[in-house]
Parts: sequence; C-alpha cells; structure tokens
Amino acid sequence: MIEIENLTMNYGDLRALDGLNLTIRPGELFAFLGPNGAGKTTAMKLLTGLMKPDAGRVRLCGHDIQQEPLLAKALLGYVPDVAVFYEKLMPVEFMEFIAELFEMDRDQAAAQTNALFTKFALHEHTR
Ligand SMILES: Nc1ncnc2c1ncn2[C@@H]1O[C@H](COP(=O)(O)OP(=O)(O)O)[C@@H](O)[C@H]1O
Ligand SMILES: [Mg+2]
Repeated sequence: MIEIENLTMNYGDLRALDGLNLTIRPGELFAFLGPNGAGKTTAMKLLTGLMKPDAGRVRLCGHDIQQEPLLAKALLGYVPDVAVFYEKLMPVEFMEFIAELFEMDRDQAAAQTNALFTKFALHEHTR
C-alpha cells in the first residue's frame, strides 16, 4: 500500500511536483508515464525517501517515509535503471548483504539465492 498525499517539491522557483495525490492498493501494479520533466524521477526520489518534500507526505504500508524511514524502507524494493554493485563483494556476498538489510532468515536467504542463481544461470559466474 502506497499513499501519497499532496506531495509538492520545488527546485528554487521551479515547482516540479504540485500536490500529487495517489493511492496504490495492495496487489496493484502502477506505472508512472509522462514526458521528460513531468516529475516522475522527483516523485520516485520522494517516495523512496531520497529527498524530503516541501509539502505533503508518503506512507508505505502506513509508515511515513520521513517519520519512520527504517520501517518504511524495510518494506521497499527499488530497482534503479542503472544497476549498482559493490565491486569488492562476490555475488553470493552481495545477496547476503541485501538479505541482512531486509533481516531475512539466513537459511531461507541462502536457499532463495541458490534458486535464483539457478533460474538465471548465474552459478557459473559466481566462482
Ligand atoms: N536537481 C534538480 N534541480 C533543479 N531542477 C530539477 C532537478 N531535478 C529535476 N529538476 C526539474 O524538475 C522537473 C521535473 O524533473 P524530473 O522529476 O526529473 O522529471 P521526469 O523524471 O519526469 O523527467 C524538470 O523541469 C526538471 O528540469
Ligand atoms: Mg526521470
């Protein structure tokens, strides 16, 4: 559940986002479409807590991204358009790191990592 209320953001004199209201209910798939400069990236930065809005708020499953950032971000999965990897981590270590961030059970995380590496034929690249 994502609730966006009156979300407003200015860059100097430019109002990039003007009172956005939007509720995305559980199970819904939602896409932001719009021309360059419409405010899509600004909205994403605000709803992931990367920036603080000038007005309005974002709640993820009831948790305000500004007031309760750890609780809200623990529920958030975000795939940026450019993949970011830590070069010094091996693939399995990277998966362990992410699993720990999300406080996953270690054995369950290892099993899921194994299943995903099998599914995407990654095992041969991990040694
Ligand atoms: N860091 C910034 N500083 C100043 N203006 C910005 C900044 N980021 C975005 N803008 C402006 O805000 C508006 C919305 O941009 P953006 O959210 O990137 O839109 P979109 O992702 O839909 O292309 C645009 O006019 C853009 O030029
Ligand atoms: Mg953009």
